[in-house]
Amino acid sequence: MQLRFLTPFVFLAFFTFKLQAQTTVKEVLDGAVTRLYQQLTPAQLDTISDEYILDFLSAQERQILATRYWTFEVNAPVVVSLMRDQAQKVPPFWLAKSGFQKTTMQVKNEEYTYEVWQKKFNKGTVQLGINGFDKHRPVYFISVGPQKKGDKVKIARVLPANQQFREMKVGAFTYHDWDDLVLEEVPESLRGQILFTTIRGRAREAHLKNAFRQTLYPSQPRPDQVVLNLSGDPKTTMDVQWRTRPNVTKGQVLYWKAQTKDTVRTEASMITIEDRLLRNDRYINHFSAHLKGLQPATTYYYRVGSASGGWSEVASFKTQAATPEGFSFIWFGDTHKSPDWGAMAQKTLARHPEISFYSIIGDLVSTGLNRDEWDEFFHHSGNVLSYKPLMPIPGNHDSQDGLGAAMYQQLFSLPTNGPAQLPKERTYSFEYQNALFVMIDGTFLNHEQTAWIEQQLANSKAKWKFVMLHFPPYNFEEDYSQIRKEWGVLFDRYHVDMVMSGHVHYYMRSKPMKAEKIVETPKNGTIYTISISIPSHHKEWPEEPYAAARFQSGPVYQHIRIDGNRLVYRCLDPDGKVKDELTIEK
Ligand SMILES: [Fe+2]
Ligand SMILES: [Fe+2]
Repeated sequence: MQLRFLTPFVFLAFFTFKLQAQTTVKEVLDGAVTRLYQQLTPAQLDTISDEYILDFLSAQERQILATRYWTFEVNAPVVVSLMRDQAQKVPPFWLAKSGFQKTTMQVKNEEYTYEVWQKKFNKGTVQLGINGFDKHRPVYFISVGPQKKGDKVKIARVLPANQQFREMKVGAFTYHDWDDLVLEEVPESLRGQILFTTIRGRAREAHLKNAFRQTLYPSQPRPDQVVLNLSGDPKTTMDVQWRTRPNVTKGQVLYWKAQTKDTVRTEASMITIEDRLLRNDRYINHFSAHLKGLQPATTYYYRVGSASGGWSEVASFKTQAATPEGFSFIWFGDTHKSPDWGAMAQKTLARHPEISFYSIIGDLVSTGLNRDEWDEFFHHSGNVLSYKPLMPIPGNHDSQDGLGAAMYQQLFSLPTNGPAQLPKERTYSFEYQNALFVMIDGTFLNHEQTAWIEQQLANSKAKWKFVMLHFPPYNFEEDYSQIRKEWGVLFDRYHVDMVMSGHVHYYMRSKPMKAEKIVETPKNGTIYTISISIPSHHKEWPEEPYAAARFQSGPVYQHIRIDGNRLVYRCLDPDGKVKDELTIEK
């Protein structure tokens, strides 16, 4: 009898213990934010302080935030040194309480000076807490050394997983998303220790102070943000995406050929996308459908939605012709979710209704994990992306602080044929008629992509070869000699016709280049271009000897027409005035 009563209790106790043992910092924050939304007005959310937050959290939640940000095991007694940017106003709430002591030592890089805090740990588990409730981007990092000289310290079971280690020394970098920022001053006693590198994105893990945002364009039951992509064969497939409020859980694409009434249905898959700090629209449902078995060179009309949520306006798209008969496309430099870009993009659809697709060369938005910025991006674009597929690449703003480009990947449906070891849909290639497009996410390290890039260029029989890459190999602002050395040689070897870039916020078209030298004609060199879809300002405007044309500001866009052996490239302003032009004959 006793056992019968005891068993559920023991089980429950064990289960509760298990739950507690596994609760993460993220789960604590998810729950806390939910309660904050229930209890505070938007105005109050903007005023919460460290004291308020600590009081608002339960003792158990505080304990998790104080211990589960970084955990690992050591095989010997160690001293953990924690480098905290001295400009961060409020030290982590747990730091002094847990026994860390501030030393007189300092660690410096070019930008920041870090206080060094230390604590001794016995062999076993080391647990460290959050960086703070602010979003202080230069987050703390640590180094670990033995208490007893000569002990060889081994680190195991690190959480978060995939921890990387370096040697603590002058010249070491600490943030993977900013590996040019290296330590310039390291006290003698810390040199040679095990340095735990990190990413600046970790500053967001417990961000609550001045953290909440609202979107001007919240989701509705009725679909919006309808966007086309090409993830498969452009002759026979098309990808359609849209979003709704989270209470709409099903969606379909209804589509039909021009002049027919035979409607075909394709079910969409659905994911919920969360932006925890978006106070008026935290969750949306995002739908994605892959239409197959389409006829080449055919216009289809379509709408998306569901009986419960409603339907979108009818839009249309055209599939690629079965044999190369010539095509055109438009590409934009950095758009940064700008209304200037959006107004220009809307005019381009009316002016160039024949184009096959649009590309954007990265920095679509300014903060890639903030969904309110994507809402602005889609809002400003009107409906152009529901008529022409978008084939973008990410820039440094779409993939930020080492946290990746999750929202970019969720919002678009792009080819998954990129380098096997890298996240999908960020670097990819596709062919359209007689042209190859190698779309490179330049935020990944060069050498991780080199072999893949060479494969794409070597294996393609396409007549025209284009590379899209956010960072411009030739420009006056940033040194991309590494890109020229590692990838430029491939562009030379396989004769890439044009490289399209952005990032530096001006317009430039180079003379034909080979082996970093100006050559006679595009027949034996590559044209490097940079563009910008928003107004921009450059104080300095030094000469660029390789430049054939330059403009200090946008917005401008590029229209490229290919007919067999002939390519006509034009750069136009929002009113359609041609500002720069080039014809290449093969
Ligand atoms: Fe950029
Ligand atoms: Fe940019």
